[in-house]
Amino acid sequence: MTKHVVQVGDLSDNSRRFLRIGTREIALFCVAGKVFALDDSCPHAGASLSGGLIEGGKVRCRAHGLAFDLATGCMGGAGLSVKTYPVSVSGETVTIEI
Ligand code: FES
Repeated sequence: MTKHVVQVGDLSDNSRRFLRIGTREIALFCVAGKVFALDDSCPHAGASLSGGLIEGGKVRCRAHGLAFDLATGCMGGAGLSVKTYPVSVSGETVTIEI
């Protein structure tokens, strides 16, 4: 397991960051005071989710419009899902477990 650390001060609300952690490309979102980490690659056709639109608790891929829940990575129903990673916040430190 790899841990990657980001400072809370680097994340404003309704923001996103692209992170490369080892061989993984991660989309990090900060929404309503919570931080979420997902694979950056959309499971539909590989577009970057870190460039997606934040809509409530979801990110909508700009390529074809599919939306994924930031917490679960699921579209809902039997749709596609994107891998999510555990995130913990302690004081000013955000830790992502890969
Ligand atoms: S690549 Fe994301 S919806 Fe098609």
